[in-house]
Amino acid sequence: MSHQTVIVVDFGGQYNQLIARKVREQNVYCKLIPCSQAAQEIEKEKPIGIIFTGGPNSVYAPNAPKVDKAVYEAGVPILGICYGAQLIAHALGGSVKSAPVREYGRRNISYLGNALFEGMDKDNTCWMSHTDYVDSLPDGFKVIAKTDSCPAAAFADEDRGLYGVQFHPEVVHCSQGNLILRNFLYGVCKATGDWNMGDFVRNQVSALKEKIGNKKILCAFSGGVDSAVAATLVHRAAGDNLTCIFVDHGLLRYKEADEVMRVFAQERGMKVIKADASDEFIGKLSGVRSPERKRKIIGAEFIKVFEREAKKLGKVDYLVQGTIYPDVIESGKDKSAVIKSHHNVGGLPDVVDFDEIIEPLRDLFKDEVRKVGYELGLPAPVVERQPFPGPGLAIRIIGAITPEKIDVLQRADYIFRKELEDSGVAKDIWQYFAVLTNTKSVGVMGDKRTYEYTVALRAVTGVDGMTCDWAHIPYDILSKASNRIVNEVPRVNRIVYDVTSKPPATIEWE
Ligand code: XMP
Repeated sequence: MSHQTVIVVDFGGQYNQLIARKVREQNVYCKLIPCSQAAQEIEKEKPIGIIFTGGPNSVYAPNAPKVDKAVYEAGVPILGICYGAQLIAHALGGSVKSAPVREYGRRNISYLGNALFEGMDKDNTCWMSHTDYVDSLPDGFKVIAKTDSCPAAAFADEDRGLYGVQFHPEVVHCSQGNLILRNFLYGVCKATGDWNMGDFVRNQVSALKEKIGNKKILCAFSGGVDSAVAATLVHRAAGDNLTCIFVDHGLLRYKEADEVMRVFAQERGMKVIKADASDEFIGKLSGVRSPERKRKIIGAEFIKVFEREAKKLGKVDYLVQGTIYPDVIESGKDKSAVIKSHHNVGGLPDVVDFDEIIEPLRDLFKDEVRKVGYELGLPAPVVERQPFPGPGLAIRIIGAITPEKIDVLQRADYIFRKELEDSGVAKDIWQYFAVLTNTKSVGVMGDKRTYEYTVALRAVTGVDGMTCDWAHIPYDILSKASNRIVNEVPRVNRIVYDVTSKPPATIEWE
C-alpha cells in the first residue's frame, strides 16, 4: 500500500495518541514510534515529516529520552511539541532551563509571520503545560511566536525545516491548533493527503485477496465494532472461505443475537455460525454471585464452545482478529502485540488449529475503524455501537443470575437505550445501560403494595473508558425512560440514576 508517512516520535507525553489521530484526520498516514527506534524507522519509512511529542522529562535530566543525531540530519522536516521543541533546541546547541513563570492552560500568544502559522490570527490563544522553556535558540533559528512569559513560544530554522512549539496544538483548547498541524503537514512537508478510508478498503481487499487465495479463514465474531468491521472487510476478499463463529451466551442485549444474524448472515450473506449456548452458560452461572467468578466461568465456557464449533471446521489457514492500532501501541512492539491480541480474544488461538493470524485493522484508530465500517456499508447501529463487555449482562445483574432477571434487565436496558438514542443525546455518551440491582423495595401500583426490583440507569461520558463522568442527561429524558420502564417491564417498581464518576466508581457495577 503506497502512501506518504509521517513519523510521530513518542517521548511519553499524555497526548501522543491524540497527535497521531490529529495527523490521520488530516488525511496523512502516521506511525507512533518509541524514541529509541526513531532513527531506524525514519531510515526504513522515508517519512515526509517527523513530529516529536511532549513528555514528562527535562531535557537536561540524566536519562532524558532523546533521538539519534541522524534524525536531525535526515533532511526531513521536524515539528517538536513541548518537550519535543525543547529537545530540538537542546540537541542543536540552544539552552533550556526551568522557566521563571510556569505556564498551564490557556494563554495569549502572538504569532509572528511564518509558514507554520499561515492563515492564522496573529493575536491568538494556545494551550500551555510546561515548567521548562527554551532560553536561547541554536544557531540558524528564530522566534516565531511569543507569550508574556515565554519569549520563544515557537521557533524555527526554516532552511532546515525544523520547528518547535512550546504549546500543544493537538489539544482542542488550542484555538486554530488543527491549522498549525495542517500547515506543517501540507505547507512544510508537502503532504498530498493520500490517506483515506475508501482507498484503505480497496487496497486491503486486494492485498487480502492475494494473500488468502482459496484458503480457509475463521473469525470469532462478537458483534462489536472491531470484529464486525474486520470480518466484513475479510469477507469482501474471501467470500464463503470465511466462517464466523458467533457465541450466544444468552447474556447479550435485547434481540442482539437476532440483529447480528440479520445484518451479517441475512443481509450480507456472510457465513455466520451462531452457537446458541445460552442454557450451558446460564446453567454454569447458576447461584454464582461473585463478579470475578462470573467472568472466569464465562471466559472458560466461551473458549469451550468456540473450540467445539471450530473443531467441526477442521484445520483453518487463518484466524482473523479485530486488533486495532491503540492495542498495538499499548503493547509496545509488534511481538508483544500478538500476546495482547491473544488476550483480546481470551486465548482462542490456543484452541484453534491455524497457520497465521490476520489483523486487517491493526493500523487504524477507532474512529478510522468506524469510517471503514461505513465504507463497507455497515449500518450506523453496528458502526457506532457502544463498548459492551465480554461477560455481557452477567456483570450488570448484581448477585445470582436467573433467566427471569436477564429478561427484566434486557427489557429495561432496551427502553433506556432507545430513549437516549431517539432523543439524540446518546451520540455524546460513551456508555449507557441499565443495571439490575439486587435490591427490592416497596412500591404502590393500582392501590396495591408491590415489592419489586430496583433498576439503576448508568450513562457516562469520556473518551477511553479509563476515566469518566456521569452523563448530565436532561431530566425529561430520564423521566420518560423511568416511566416507561416501570410501566412496561414487569417486576420493576423503582428506578435510580447513578451519579458517580470513575474514579472512584467504575463504569460497570460489577
Ligand atoms: P470499568 O467497569 O472497569 O469498565 O470501569 C471499563 C470498560 O471495560 C468494560 N469492561 C469489560 N469488558 N470484559 C470486557 O470485555 C470485562 O470483564 C469487562 N469489565 C468491564 C466496560 O464495559 C467499560 O467499557
